[in-house]
Amino acid sequence: MATLPENLVMTTDLLTGTEFNSARVRELFQLTADIKARPDRYRGALGGRYLALIFEKPSLRTRVTFEVGIQSMGGGAIFLDHIGTRLGQRESIRDVAKNLERWVQAIVARVFEQKALEELAAHASIPVINALSDLYHPCQAFADFFTLEERFGNLKGLTLAYVGDGNNVCHSLLLAGARTGANVRVATPAGYEPSAAIVAEARRAARETRAKIEILRAPEEAVAGAQAVYTDVWASMGQEKEAAARENIFLPYQVNEALMAQAAPDSVFLHCLPAHRGMEVTDAVLDAPRSIVYDQAENRLHVQKAILLTLLG
Ligand code: CP
Ligand code: NVA
Repeated sequence: MATLPENLVMTTDLLTGTEFNSARVRELFQLTADIKARPDRYRGALGGRYLALIFEKPSLRTRVTFEVGIQSMGGGAIFLDHIGTRLGQRESIRDVAKNLERWVQAIVARVFEQKALEELAAHASIPVINALSDLYHPCQAFADFFTLEERFGNLKGLTLAYVGDGNNVCHSLLLAGARTGANVRVATPAGYEPSAAIVAEARRAARETRAKIEILRAPEEAVAGAQAVYTDVWASMGQEKEAAARENIFLPYQVNEALMAQAAPDSVFLHCLPAHRGMEVTDAVLDAPRSIVYDQAENRLHVQKAILLTLLG
């Protein structure tokens, strides 16, 4: 990077998803559609470039889709398994950043704390991409809205109801929905609402696209007439000790056939996966024809390829 003229030096990160305004989300989805339709055109697009994948938590979808995405475009992926040790424990996050930037062209990181990701980005002159943190899961939400656009043709005016924990996935759906013009209704138990600051940021973006953001209590109110119903686990990775206590609190938020019957007749069901079958969602809903969970999973690959090309050029 140091050899480039000043005006060409550009560090572009994807830390929260708010780096992409509504116009950039639109461009991202157009590129994603082209990559999905014509993957051969992008075969050498990352030629000779390497990425470090740092994962503090387990992953199926994110790891495989990043590795396949990078390798299918001619790049190299180096997976760093941090399970058991957190970033910053063996050596400072600053030193991890300062080393990695000498060898690789970008970092993809799944972390317990958003602030670890931000520290990594502050010290690395290469792009840092959020592969899930305690606060956000931007790659997931972009793939989800791309999937909904494929299904419904247009996101403007579409209503997505998120039912369950006001967690990282909920936050990113709020932020991405607001940018695409989709209405997002969230219903959570008391004490499990999404972050007020993130809701405020989503409402700010929604003013531009005229999307409606609603934070509710009753799951029935959220799903009433919605075209998309979304849920996620009641206890996220790192919250395993709270899982039993959360079960009673969240049981009224289970997405089952009775709840789905209150959504629009052409509605679809979404889940980022992994799912806890029989808990936040029943088998009957997850395995129904209206469930598009595997389309979401597939689109993680295509949208992340588009993210990589957008950030790495
Ligand atoms: N949805 C998602 O991010 O899945 P993984 O935890 O398996 O990566
Ligand atoms: N909220 C979940 C999402 C997993 C993809 C978690 O953080 O564990």
